[in-house]
Amino acid sequence: MLGILFVALSNVFKVLSPRVLSWAIDMVSQNINLYGSFEGFQLQEVLKSSLKQSLLIFCLIYFATALIGGVFTFLMRQSMIVMSRLIEFDLKNEIYQHYQRLETAFFKRNNTGDLMNRATEDVSKVRMYLGPALMYLVNVFFLFTFVIYTMLSINVSLTLWVLLPMPILTISIFYINNLIHERSEAIQQQLSILTSNAQEFYSGIRVLKSYVQERLALRTYERASENYKEKALSLAHVEAFFFPLMVLLVGLSTIIVVIVGGNYVEKGLITPGNLVEFIMYVNLLTWPVTSIGWAASLVQSAAASQKRINEFLKTKSAIPTSVGKSIQLNGNIQFQHMNFVYPDTGIEALKDINLDIKSGEKWAIMGRTGSGKSSLAELILGMYYPSEGNLKIEGERIQDIQLTKLRQQIGYIPQDVFLFSDTIYNNIKFGNSKLTDEEAEEAAKKASIYDEIMEFPQGFNTLVGERGVTLSGGQKQRISIARALAIQPKLLLFDDALSAVDVHTEKRIVANLNASIKDKTVLIISHRIFSSVNFDNIIILDNGRVVEQGKHEELLNLGGIYAEFYEKQHFEQKD
Ligand SMILES: Nc1ncnc2c1ncn2[C@@H]1O[C@H](COP(=O)(O)OP(=O)(O)OP(=O)(O)O)[C@@H](O)[C@H]1O
Ligand SMILES: [Mg+2]
Repeated sequence: MLGILFVALSNVFKVLSPRVLSWAIDMVSQNINLYGSFEGFQLQEVLKSSLKQSLLIFCLIYFATALIGGVFTFLMRQSMIVMSRLIEFDLKNEIYQHYQRLETAFFKRNNTGDLMNRATEDVSKVRMYLGPALMYLVNVFFLFTFVIYTMLSINVSLTLWVLLPMPILTISIFYINNLIHERSEAIQQQLSILTSNAQEFYSGIRVLKSYVQERLALRTYERASENYKEKALSLAHVEAFFFPLMVLLVGLSTIIVVIVGGNYVEKGLITPGNLVEFIMYVNLLTWPVTSIGWAASLVQSAAASQKRINEFLKTKSAIPTSVGKSIQLNGNIQFQHMNFVYPDTGIEALKDINLDIKSGEKWAIMGRTGSGKSSLAELILGMYYPSEGNLKIEGERIQDIQLTKLRQQIGYIPQDVFLFSDTIYNNIKFGNSKLTDEEAEEAAKKASIYDEIMEFPQGFNTLVGERGVTLSGGQKQRISIARALAIQPKLLLFDDALSAVDVHTEKRIVANLNASIKDKTVLIISHRIFSSVNFDNIIILDNGRVVEQGKHEELLNLGGIYAEFYEKQHFEQKD
């Protein structure tokens, strides 16, 4: 509101300046004849000095109006552009916060690039509308009102003549702006193809080089680059056309003022000062008229962007995380006739699961690839809700539990290990930033990774990931285990967490772990049999169903999938 007031005030002064100039010119032109007629009289000198004085006063007034107008223009930008930046800030935070609340399924449905684009590109387009576009539109409105009102009060027909080319100007600018908009959009798209192209080549550089496909990569890049160049050139053509056209049309208005207005001065309909004033008004209108087309295309793209943003903002999380009963986890988990179907694909991942896991028990979950093991883990974390039947934790249905609280008490080691581009310390402390260095080191010892970390020159302060050292698969897995152990969870969920270490290291880790997991409930998902852990129960999943369960010996005697696993592993180890 304040911004709009400033816009109005700044325009009052913009219109005032030509007025002042017009008065000054008229004063001079009227007095010049008078001065001539006093030729040879004493009075001529008096007139000259008073004329000089009045001119000086006009100069000062002119300067003052320009200055005050400038101050209001500054305040206008300060209030409106700053306001748009603040809204941008809020909007970005709102989107980010909203993303955080959405369930995993949402992130599997939408790709990362799209998510990021909506939080950055689209938001900045909306800001362009709220800030510059709105400011210019309000500005145009006031300027037009004031200028046209003043012009009409001087001479109606000259005003109409001056405004004649304006609609053509606005329409053609709008048209050209659309062209520019379209082409810059195409450039943006091509640019993101180009960057993702390069990014993929660089991240896959090892595969690329080992298959000797550098030349192919170069050619693909060249083609994309060529395409980009063409699009950029086509934009440059339009822009090259744009400016001269604008100057031409504005020039046309000026010419009309000079011809028609000159005629009017001759007839005594307007003063010479008015003529100058009119020319100044025409120039004053030029830029705002140009900005109408520009602002209109900004409004269009902002509308499209806001639609895209709303699409995500309006998606409700199917799985609320911050409401529900806050439970103290002890490790009692029950599955009762539970079925689970992936909502997006309709794949039946788990069928009729009945399990009763008691606090402190150690369970192994095994099965062939794709049998539903990871899905089971994600259900316990509340990433998905069961489709049918029940999953109860501490006797409460998972749907009634406050998930943030639940997840804080679970140490989960996902199948695809993820480390952040940060120090090893911070990666291990990720689950709880209050952890001390000693606690992190303790967790690393339990995960049998301590010695290896200490061998790095910077030890626990070594940066990992993109900006730092590349760790081996097994090292990453064990840091991930340390991260889970560090938060002292009641329940540990290992999803294939030891797949990347050799049998020897595995034995060492399990022996180490055995001591630290005594009082915890532990679920170990694996392809391998850990003979060194005395599991309370081992379940075998096949095609989403529990097909075998029991203790090691029982399962061996059963002669089913477990026995088959055992046979194979035994055979390999002998190898
Ligand atoms: N996000 C998902 N959306 C849809 N279907 C999925 C999703 N994740 C897994 N599936 C499907 O669910 C089934 C079970 O997958 P799951 O990841 O649980 O298997 P897994 O036993 O962990 O296999 P692996 O040993 O290879 O890790 C598979 O058929 C898989 O294609
Ligand atoms: Mg899995």
